[in-house]
Amino acid sequence: MSFWEILLWTSLASLLTTLLGGLYAMGTFRVRKTREPPLDKGFIPWLGYAINFKKDPVQFLQRMRKKHGDVFTVLVGGNYLHFVMDPHTYRHIVKEPKNKLDFYMFASVIVFNAFGFHSSECHHKIVQTFSNKYLSGQNLSTLNQVMMANLQKVLFHRQEQKRSWQQDGVLHFSYRNMFQAAYLTLFGTEPEGGVEKKDAVKENELTHYGEMFEAFQRFDRFFPQMAFSLLDPLGKRETQRLKNIFWDILSLEKVYQKDNISSWVLEQDKRMAEVGMTEKVRTRFLFLLLWASQANTGPATFWILVHLLKHPEAMEAVREEVDEALREAGQEVKPGCPIGNVTLSALKTPFLESAIEETLRLKTSPFLFRSVMQDTDIKTSDGREYTLRKGDHLLLFPFLALHMDPEIYPDPHVFQYDRFISPNGTKKEFYKDGIKLKHSTMPFGAGPSMCPGRFFAMSEMKIFVILMLTYFDMELVKKEEEIPAIDARRYGFGTAHPSHDIQFRYRLRF
Ligand code: HEM
Ligand SMILES: *[C@@H]1O[C@H](CO)[C@@H](O)[C@H](O)[C@H]1NC(C)=O
Ligand SMILES: *[C@@H]1O[C@H](CO)[C@@H](O)[C@H](O)[C@H]1NC(C)=O
Ligand SMILES: *[C@@H]1O[C@H](CO)[C@@H](O)[C@H](O)[C@H]1NC(C)=O
Ligand SMILES: *[C@@H]1O[C@H](CO)[C@@H](O)[C@H](O)[C@H]1NC(C)=O
Repeated sequence: MSFWEILLWTSLASLLTTLLGGLYAMGTFRVRKTREPPLDKGFIPWLGYAINFKKDPVQFLQRMRKKHGDVFTVLVGGNYLHFVMDPHTYRHIVKEPKNKLDFYMFASVIVFNAFGFHSSECHHKIVQTFSNKYLSGQNLSTLNQVMMANLQKVLFHRQEQKRSWQQDGVLHFSYRNMFQAAYLTLFGTEPEGGVEKKDAVKENELTHYGEMFEAFQRFDRFFPQMAFSLLDPLGKRETQRLKNIFWDILSLEKVYQKDNISSWVLEQDKRMAEVGMTEKVRTRFLFLLLWASQANTGPATFWILVHLLKHPEAMEAVREEVDEALREAGQEVKPGCPIGNVTLSALKTPFLESAIEETLRLKTSPFLFRSVMQDTDIKTSDGREYTLRKGDHLLLFPFLALHMDPEIYPDPHVFQYDRFISPNGTKKEFYKDGIKLKHSTMPFGAGPSMCPGRFFAMSEMKIFVILMLTYFDMELVKKEEEIPAIDARRYGFGTAHPSHDIQFRYRLRF
């Protein structure tokens, strides 16, 4: 189900309530007040543009923008949604206090529907505080090294004797390996078993993580429907079964048997206990952390790898740069000689960073959703002022407002791995209407809801690409196969998913 379908069905449910309350016509006769954005209710009463939205939100919003300009209000299933497509306004909008534009209300509904506990601003503050502390700066460097070690462990586990080509789906390979390595890094490792049982334990672990990954993917597939409480009975039963699996794996008793739990997880849980959360809720909160830390990164590494595979010149440039950077860092790269002691931030890899940023520009499409708590004024860069009406909703969509704007990014649909580097090698600046953009992409959202794991996410993606390019030769099984399309059902939810997987071959380079 697409984002818009969901919005539609949510709205239908609320229509029913409205009917029962005898307030059927509520909102239908709305007229635009002066200073309000252009209002477009479409031709169908109440539904408005719900169907057009459902079909293709990106195309529809582009059409509305042509018709009304950068700021407009559309009726979608009884909801009045304001869209602001002028990216220069974004940094002001996301700074509005929450008694004007509120983000928690919407977020906590989703958290409750998907994870089964009532979150509050207090939880959000704890996440922000501990993420700042443990997922940035010097502490992030430490975590990166753990991630580097774990990803090598996972990637090379079965490679020792295998010098021949092996085949897998790019999505399956990237997502699964990232999932396991990040899980070990954040949630800890199994305690050492008896020495003689070592191989059996390793084998069990592998199956365990494989099964957990399958369950995670299945859970995540339901996420958009689950978030808006729109599961059919079958979906309800299945997601409940999957939640029970994770609530068992993440029960405090099992979690605390692990070694090497990251401070990010450990300290957040401790604080949750201090503020009086029950054990049940602490486990559910841990599942939220697991989902948030895994659901976007795996698919993102897929898109990066697939773009590099389709663009040999990009693959070559990044590989040369990484080889050179590792050599400069004094790292000898050969099998059985893992990359141990490199500090990511000390490696000069501008092409790699640009390629990742370019991939995120193309494949992340978060909606920034705010509830309008009181009439709120916004001003566009050309000096026009608008009032957003209390009770409406505001949606920012940087994917269209920034990422796909041909004025900012010529040929916006084309992957250009070095797009973010200027000719003299510095980081490129981007302009719109002659004004410099403070942020030219927003894959991680912005303002109070901005992803607190973004620095770690960037590290993980870099580590993945560095290891893949350094240790493996890779090629698509069918060289002419196109990059899969975006699965439109997930527009609005962070990293896009591909409509299908694509097969590749890989083998150790040495
Ligand atoms: C490419 C990878 C990632 C992308 C594109 C991404 C994107 C996002 C976005 C757009 C949001 C905000 C949603 C909103 O506005 O409501 C978000 C929230 C969040 N992300 Fe990420 N994320 C990524 C990786 C990570 C990682 C690796 C972690 C942790 C280790 C993480 C932890 C979180 C958490 C905890 C939240 C919720 C924060 C809150 O309560 O406000 N993310 N992410
Ligand atoms: C890093 O973690 C330590 C505790 O392990 C903490 O005392 C310190 O404040 C953290 N560093 C930063 C910059 O927050
Ligand atoms: C984790 O803990 C074990 C002890 O159970 C230890 O041997 C190992 O080196 C630690 N570190 C990692 C990254 O696994
Ligand atoms: C790793 O690097 C740090 C500084 O970057 C250095 O102090 C330490 O001795 C190095 N460790 C090893 C095992 O090379
Ligand atoms: C590099 O080029 C950009 C324009 O392409 C310019 O704005 C910037 O000042 C230059 N930086 C240096 C160090 O020359």
